[in-house]
Amino acid sequence: MKIAIAGTGYVGFVTAVCLAEHGHNVTCVDVDKKIIDSLNRYGKALIYEKDLDALMEKNKERLSYTTDYASAYKDAEIIFIGVGTPEKRDGSANLNYVYAVAMQIAETAERECVVVVKSTVPIGTNERIEKIIKDNRPEGAAPIHVASNPEFLAQGTAVHDTLHASRIVIGVEDDYAKAKLTELYKDFAAPKLITNRRSAEMIKYASNDFLALKISYINEIANLCEEIGADIEDVAKGMGYDKRIGSKFLKAGIGYGGSCFPKDTKALHWLSDYHEQELKIVKAAIEVNDHQKLKLIRKAHKYYEDLEGLTVAVLGLTFKPETADLRGAPSLVNIPLLLEDGAVVKVYDPVGMENFKEYFPTQVQYCNDIDTAIKDADLCLILTDWKNIKEYPLEGFKINMKRPIVLDGRNCYGLDEAETAGLTYVSMGRRTIVADGC
Ligand SMILES: NC(=O)c1ccc[n+]([C@@H]2O[C@H](COP(=O)([O-])OP(=O)(O)OC[C@H]3O[C@@H](n4cnc5c(N)ncnc54)[C@H](O)[C@@H]3O)[C@@H](O)[C@H]2O)c1
Repeated sequence: MKIAIAGTGYVGFVTAVCLAEHGHNVTCVDVDKKIIDSLNRYGKALIYEKDLDALMEKNKERLSYTTDYASAYKDAEIIFIGVGTPEKRDGSANLNYVYAVAMQIAETAERECVVVVKSTVPIGTNERIEKIIKDNRPEGAAPIHVASNPEFLAQGTAVHDTLHASRIVIGVEDDYAKAKLTELYKDFAAPKLITNRRSAEMIKYASNDFLALKISYINEIANLCEEIGADIEDVAKGMGYDKRIGSKFLKAGIGYGGSCFPKDTKALHWLSDYHEQELKIVKAAIEVNDHQKLKLIRKAHKYYEDLEGLTVAVLGLTFKPETADLRGAPSLVNIPLLLEDGAVVKVYDPVGMENFKEYFPTQVQYCNDIDTAIKDADLCLILTDWKNIKEYPLEGFKINMKRPIVLDGRNCYGLDEAETAGLTYVSMGRRTIVADGC
């Protein structure tokens, strides 16, 4: 099929490459010239996702990239909308980018086609998009159908999640859109759920918010574990054996981040409040998360009343491993606080440092390895559980740091190893190990 995709970010681009892998011809459209230039000139995506470059190279004959949306939309059979829906100040979703694409499609699509909304949008948005298109369509133009097809990929595993989707949700109101999307996805093995557009929109928010709730729940249980002498790792394992609960998303830590959970919890809460059906449980998850993100800083003050002049190493900047994305990352709230407290901050991340420089070009010291970052540090904060951070030999902290105090927001190490290495090791929901003299 001939497909166009508006938005060449994590969702749009991964979708494009995976549909090309399934034999479709896909034109990627973006307003960001840098993204399109990089793809056209160097065959390189500006986002980091496992397996993406190789799959893109394999399917390059079926992929094209442009900023000229009219040329992409005019004869496409299916046009995906995969642009951002960021958070507004009041917590609601900013739909300006989505509506801008709808206008562009209305004005330029020449053949009958289906507009498929992949961006995460509040319930009722597909109807609004349909109206915008209808109101801006030239007299006598071919009909355009609007369908919802929310995306469930996770950054870090986006290619795998798309090729082996847990489910494909198709929200439609007419047979043409239903037939086209059924045809598009016929070779994907995932279970397919065909529903109306409002239910499809709701499935996305209800799923994301449920996962966010699960994380906030286990984080609160972890906080209680610390006080009562239970161990969250064992507690989570014991819970996870129960199939009704499942073991995923039961990892205690310094809170969820990323481009989705923070904004999607706020957007659904805003919507529920608007409809006078406030989702109090979602509100609680948001509050717990905001509090959790600063937990290591609170713990730091148990060891140092004042951080002025101290050297603090921060390992991990991205919101999770296997991505360069910093959106909603705990580093973005913790590091400014460390700097405000007068600490000298040294950071290390295997892929996130270039992006971090856009926020903090000179305020922190960038280190190319863990040893350099922790050298002579008075304190170390671990914010992301990258594999090479988890595999770092613990004796290194003892050898390199001025005082081996490690505050681990991701439970990267076993307590016994930390004890043997002679560290003061503070993790989440577990007993604190105190080294001699700390
Ligand atoms: N990132 C994820 O893990 C994920 C997962 C599921 C759903 N989603 C949802 O998918 C949507 C996109 O997320 P993302 O992370 O891919 O965003 P992103 O910020 O990585 O990419 C969005 C892209 O859209 C482009 N854009 C903006 N206006 C445009 C226009 N008029 N025409 C063409 N391109 C335009 C931007 O330049 C940007 O490159 C959001 O609604 C998000 O909530 C994201």
